Amino acid sequence: MGNHLKEVYTLSDLAEWSEVSRDLEFPARLAVIGDPVAHSRSPQMHNPALRATGGNASYIRLHLREGELDEGIRLMEAAGFIGFNATIPHKSAVFERVDEMTETARRVGAVNTVAFREGRLIGHNTDAPGLQRAVKEAFSVDFCDLRILIVGAGGGAGRAATVQAAMEGCRRLVLVNRTVSKAGELVREIADLLPGEGRVVAVPWEDAELARELECTDLVINATSLGMKPDDRPVVPGHLLRARHLVYDMVYSPPETRFLEDARNSGAMCANGLDMLLWQGVLAFEFWFDREAPVEVMRRGLHGM
Ligand SMILES: NC(=O)c1ccc[n+]([C@@H]2O[C@H](COP(=O)([O-])OP(=O)(O)OC[C@H]3O[C@@H](n4cnc5c(N)ncnc54)[C@H](OP(=O)(O)O)[C@@H]3O)[C@@H](O)[C@H]2O)c1
Repeated sequence: MGNHLKEVYTLSDLAEWSEVSRDLEFPARLAVIGDPVAHSRSPQMHNPALRATGGNASYIRLHLREGELDEGIRLMEAAGFIGFNATIPHKSAVFERVDEMTETARRVGAVNTVAFREGRLIGHNTDAPGLQRAVKEAFSVDFCDLRILIVGAGGGAGRAATVQAAMEGCRRLVLVNRTVSKAGELVREIADLLPGEGRVVAVPWEDAELARELECTDLVINATSLGMKPDDRPVVPGHLLRARHLVYDMVYSPPETRFLEDARNSGAMCANGLDMLLWQGVLAFEFWFDREAPVEVMRRGLHGM
């Protein structure tokens, strides 16, 4: 008997679950589902957290293709899973399948955390509050006190950031996105949360607009995938960043993007997205177990220490 988890499990494994999991000392009861999923660092933080809290369960990576989602969820529930995390491309499809969800998940339009409770699927989105916790930890600030500019507000992570900032009543919110119509639509969706003339606006991704808006911005967030490749265009021209800006890049691989390098060179405080990943995991753990998560154990696992 041991706990030699496979790097990645598949739908075929789930279909023969009692056989596949027979020799595990801590049976798999939680998973991250995705396509691809082999890169996911979530097991690195959740398995140490389960050990530290005496949980008789382990957390696995489960590769599910789009057409395999319904069967995968059915088999996990039948195998006694507590819940799962969803990553690309399943967050929207899972949103469509849950029986109940939190207000945050409903507003974001995506579910990254599901709990199986009494035959029902309960969904949450922990990316949104996870970002808030990471920003608070990095810069000792609250969204409600800030004027925030989000680049990439049309993608999934950008929607999560926008909803969280709006739900917390930030002072002003400026949305920027390559596909401008998505940012405009999002402004309409959250307008009720930020009443007041011009308190939430979408602006074109142009240097003159950015220069004007950054003059009255406290926190700048990159929610695009720009920076993951060395030849990506800059998120914001470096010369527009100031020492008084707080700069958060959701990208964490590489750990220092050009955006963060430019921010650092301008004297701004900055942080990458690794702690957003940590905090979304912490909040997922708390959602499943209704108890405080061992944050430092999870942090050490995630940082590979
Ligand atoms: N740290 C964390 O825990 C965490 C959590 C979630 C996501 N993330 C990171 O956040 C980033 C976005 O993830 P996502 O799930 O939101 O992806 P997504 O839904 O595919 O959205 C991608 C966003 O990036 C924009 N974009 C992509 N390529 C671009 C380019 N070449 N030029 C300009 N804009 C471009 C898209 O604009 P359009 O709308 O115009 O397509 C969209 O706003 C990724 O790097 C991801 O790793 C981090």
